[in-house]
Amino acid sequence: MSKWRHAHLLGIRNLDKEDIEYLLEKADSFREFLENSPKGCEELKGYLLVNLFFEPSTRTRTSFEIAGKLLGMQVVNVDVEVSSLRKGESLRDTVRTLGRLKPDVLVVRHSASGVPEYLAQFSPFHIVNAGDGLREHPTQALLDLLAIRRFFHRFEGLRMAIVGDILHSRVARSLAMGFGELGGRVVVSGPPTLVPREVEMLGVKRVFPVEEAIRNVDVVYLLRIQRERQDAGYFPSLKEYAAFFGLSDAYWEKIKDQVVIMHPGPVNRGVEVSYSLVENERSLIEEQVTCGLAVRMAILETLIREGEKPWEKRF
Ligand code: CP
Repeated sequence: MSKWRHAHLLGIRNLDKEDIEYLLEKADSFREFLENSPKGCEELKGYLLVNLFFEPSTRTRTSFEIAGKLLGMQVVNVDVEVSSLRKGESLRDTVRTLGRLKPDVLVVRHSASGVPEYLAQFSPFHIVNAGDGLREHPTQALLDLLAIRRFFHRFEGLRMAIVGDILHSRVARSLAMGFGELGGRVVVSGPPTLVPREVEMLGVKRVFPVEEAIRNVDVVYLLRIQRERQDAGYFPSLKEYAAFFGLSDAYWEKIKDQVVIMHPGPVNRGVEVSYSLVENERSLIEEQVTCGLAVRMAILETLIREGEKPWEKRF
C-alpha cells in the first residue's frame, strides 16, 4: 500500500526516511527492469512530460527523456534559447502557457534557488526539481543513494566523504541530507575556501586535510570543480587542486580495499580524480548514470500514479 503523499518532487528536505526508502525500493525494481526489458513498457502511455532546462545538462535531461519514453510517455524538450522567454515572457507566464498544453509532469532546472517551489505554488501539473541554484538536486541524490544501496545493501553505519566545492554544490546538500536520513554519516572536505562552516547545519563534519577525511570512509564522493568559478580565487589553479584535493593513483593505493568512488558528473578527469580511476572496478560513476534512469522512472511513475493531484486545486 502506497503512502506517497506529495504532488511534486522539490527537494530531499521535503522527504522523510519512509519516502526515500519507498522511492529507492521502486527504483531498484526499475533498475532490474532495465537489465531485463530495456525496450520499455507502456505503463504511462498517454501522459506528457515536459523538460524545461535553463542550465546545461547531459545526464539529467537525457535520462528524464529516456525514462519517460521507456514508460510510454510523450516527451517534449523546451528549447529555452528559442522560446518566448528570450522575448521577455516571464517564467510564470511561460509555465501557465505550458499548463494549457496539458503536460502531466514538468522537469525544471534553473540557476535560481527556489524556482521549483515557486512554480509548484500555481502549477496545474507535477513539478520535479532537476537542480535549482545552490539549493538542491534531489534526483541526483536519489540515484546516488540507489547506487550505494545496490553496492552495500545497507546505509546504517556507512561513512561517506564528500570532497570538493561544497560551497556551490546543490548535489552535496541533497546527498548529505538523504544519506544522513537513512543512517549514514557524512564528512566534507576540500579547499577550506569551498567548505563553509554553515554546512555543519546539515549534520555533517568538516575534516581537513582531504587525506584525513577519506582515511576511514566507505564512499569517497568527489564533486565537480566548477571551472566557471576558477577565476574567483577559491584555489590557485586546477593543477594545484589536482595535487592537493584530487584523488590520485598514489593515494588510491592506500585506501582501495575499503572504498568506492562516486562522482555526479561531468568529471574533470585528472582534476577531481585521476584519469584512470574513473573506470576503476571500484568506481560507481557509470553505474550512477544507469541508476539515474531507474530513479527517474520511479519518480515519474510515483507522481503520476500516486501523487496528489495539483490540478484539482488550481488553474
Ligand atoms: N550530475 C548532473 O546533474 O549532470 P548533468 O548536468 O549532465 O545533468
